[in-house]
Amino acid sequence: MTETEANRSSTRDLSTEDTVELPEQAVPGDGGEGAGSAYERIGGAVAVQAAVRIFYERVLAEPDLAGYFESVEMAGQRRHLAAMLTVLLGGPDTYTGRGLAQAHQGLGISSAHYARVGAHLLATLMWLDVPADVVDHIRETLGQVESQVVAPRSRPAG
Ligand code: HEM
Repeated sequence: MTETEANRSSTRDLSTEDTVELPEQAVPGDGGEGAGSAYERIGGAVAVQAAVRIFYERVLAEPDLAGYFESVEMAGQRRHLAAMLTVLLGGPDTYTGRGLAQAHQGLGISSAHYARVGAHLLATLMWLDVPADVVDHIRETLGQVESQVVAPRSRPAG
């Protein structure tokens, strides 16, 4: 792998602007795009696509979460999330969507809803038997990007 490729696979800023701050650290044991990356270990594109499909089935099964996606074209949505997850896992970088902050701006997402969506993502990965260190990496990332997704004035439930 060239130096450029190595940098791209581990430090890509998904914002396309300067709004996303994804961790610079790749997954432990991540060898970038090649064999040994978390992406390869979990089964590559097939596994990521399965995760995204199951994830959105879970999210859309909850009426108050499904409401956010009422007018969203889900095929494109799944494609974007799959591409984003792929980059996070050290796979090839084909993400062409908006940055997280821009994509979620104005949606009024509460931190409670964020937590539920995040829990669905982690539960999906665990259900697919994704190794624990990879799940931990995604959990950590969810913590790091929350402020870019949650609406500034939303309050925690309760
Ligand atoms: C870290 C957690 C999340 C990630 C990684 C994520 C990822 C994404 C991605 C990649 C897109 C597509 C961007 C584009 O179209 O260019 C998107 C859009 C969207 N997300 Fe999220 N998302 C997260 C959390 C949430 C939560 C918690 C909700 C709602 C409760 C949500 C609702 C939406 C909606 C409704 C859209 C479509 C917006 C539109 O097309 O105008 N997302 N998200």
